[in-house]
Amino acid sequence: MLNVALPKGRLGEKVYGLFARAGFECPAVLENTRKLIFENPKADVRYFWVKPSDVAIYVARGAADVGVAGKDILMEYRPDVYELLDLKLGKCRMAVAGPAEFQDRKEQTLRVATKFSRIARDYYSAQGRDIDIIHLNGSIEIAPILGLSDVIVDIVETGTTLKENKLAVLETIMPISARLIANKSGFKFKTEAIQRLMNELRKEVEEA
Ligand code: PRP
Repeated sequence: MLNVALPKGRLGEKVYGLFARAGFECPAVLENTRKLIFENPKADVRYFWVKPSDVAIYVARGAADVGVAGKDILMEYRPDVYELLDLKLGKCRMAVAGPAEFQDRKEQTLRVATKFSRIARDYYSAQGRDIDIIHLNGSIEIAPILGLSDVIVDIVETGTTLKENKLAVLETIMPISARLIANKSGFKFKTEAIQRLMNELRKEVEEA
């Protein structure tokens, strides 16, 4: 049986829809219950809902054979997993944002608030720019408003959060989307099933 970790929430429901269309149905997944694990022996698949940022942990440690995680999480935490396919869902971008009039004074250390410390560090170190990282866990947009930081590095999807907080995108770091990931040893033992899943998903993604 293939164990699949799905990211809880709106993205996860879209991801499940894609898996179902690809032939890995388990209708109970969408039942509105507090249950977290669902299986369909006919399709040989078991799904479980986990926090989006935890999917890669379940997959890396083999509790799930495959899962779906955002490219942001994969870049930030570098889990030891195979990245098999871009599902082209949950599209957004990683960006530097701040007050629209912000002028970077290169002689000063730039204060950057973010949940994505590694991505921010890598981005600025490639430019040889000195930064001070302020690691936060959410509501990052508040930091420049209160003078805690000069800019933020965060995910921008519709841009609404920035707009409503009078901030703007200053630079785009990279595009983000959901990826199919697999446990490395699980891939050896369940090669056929995982490859079949990957091929069927690829067909669905290409048709979309
Ligand atoms: C993310 C991100 C932004 C927002 C961007 O937050 O951190 O705050 O979404 O989306 P938008 O461009 O469509 O407004 P999330 O909702 O994941 O919550 P968080 O504050 O816990 O990071």
